[in-house]
Amino acid sequence: MKNIAVIGAGTMGNGIAHVFAQNGFSVNMIDVNAAQLEKAVQNITKNFDRQIAKGAVTEEQKLNALSNISTYTDITDGVKNAELVVEAATENAELKLKIFKLIDEAAPADAILASNTSSISITKIASATKRPQQVIGMHFMNPVPVMKLVEIINGYATTKEVTETIVELSKQLGKVPCVVNDYPGFIANRILMPMLNEAIYSLYEGIAGVEEIDTIMKLGMAHPMGPLQLADFIGLDVCLSILNVLYAGFGNTKYAPCPLLVNMVTSGKLGTKSGEGFYTYATGNKELVVSERFKK
Ligand SMILES: NC(=O)c1ccc[n+]([C@@H]2O[C@H](COP(=O)([O-])OP(=O)(O)OC[C@H]3O[C@@H](n4cnc5c(N)ncnc54)[C@H](O)[C@@H]3O)[C@@H](O)[C@H]2O)c1
Repeated sequence: MKNIAVIGAGTMGNGIAHVFAQNGFSVNMIDVNAAQLEKAVQNITKNFDRQIAKGAVTEEQKLNALSNISTYTDITDGVKNAELVVEAATENAELKLKIFKLIDEAAPADAILASNTSSISITKIASATKRPQQVIGMHFMNPVPVMKLVEIINGYATTKEVTETIVELSKQLGKVPCVVNDYPGFIANRILMPMLNEAIYSLYEGIAGVEEIDTIMKLGMAHPMGPLQLADFIGLDVCLSILNVLYAGFGNTKYAPCPLLVNMVTSGKLGTKSGEGFYTYATGNKELVVSERFKK
């Protein structure tokens, strides 16, 4: 495999393009938003500079990788030579179904179509195409150049050969692949999200404060970041939407999102991206400051 198309040049798309380009693949990076494509190339350049500062790559490797990336605003154009398409567009089921229908029509018949979705059913995404056996989940973690895991999700129709190809390819990128089946939340979010939700419930019920909950999980369980800080980092709107997928998919109240989380999202407190969640995030201030609302 040589030619990869990546759809969506946001947080995940630019990271995915980065690792493929770094490993010698030719990458077509596609986004409907031209400004986003420009920003993505700048981000990739910055992230390479960071790797150079750490001695992980050379200037020559950076230039080679950057020369492997071309940008497109038109999906049909961008996927026409692709052997693998990795979709990392906005997390919206309707949008992804539309994109997969389009790439199914435009990409070569033998191309594998992968989605980086965090929670949308791969089987459902595959049903928008005429090649469900060649559709698979390739769930990279953020930040992609740093995080080792790729959670590989078999849709109901995915063939063994396609899974094996994606496992081998992930290894070629220096990643560690783990194969799971397609049920709500897959494995990563099925286990992570209830933990974050439970931390929010503990705060909501007044059992402990923000700092206590995060400190207990950091120092007691050796987690690098407390669950409330992690929820802020992921985005509280993203956490809410994944919990709703789990709740709807299993019909079990143990996945019901905490009413405090729902209220925070409704009032626009989304975590780091909005400047406030369980903590406040002022630009230039790296210190963790508990949000006024949760101060004792
Ligand atoms: N951010 C994370 O931590 C994370 C981790 C793992 C998986 N994911 C998944 O990765 C995917 C992307 O997430 P993100 O955080 O990078 O989102 P993002 O909002 O940063 O980027 C999404 C990009 O998709 C583009 N886009 C929207 N519609 C498009 C279309 N029709 N064609 C081409 N591009 C289009 C947008 O312009 C935007 O640049 C989602 O499915 C998300 O669930 C995110």
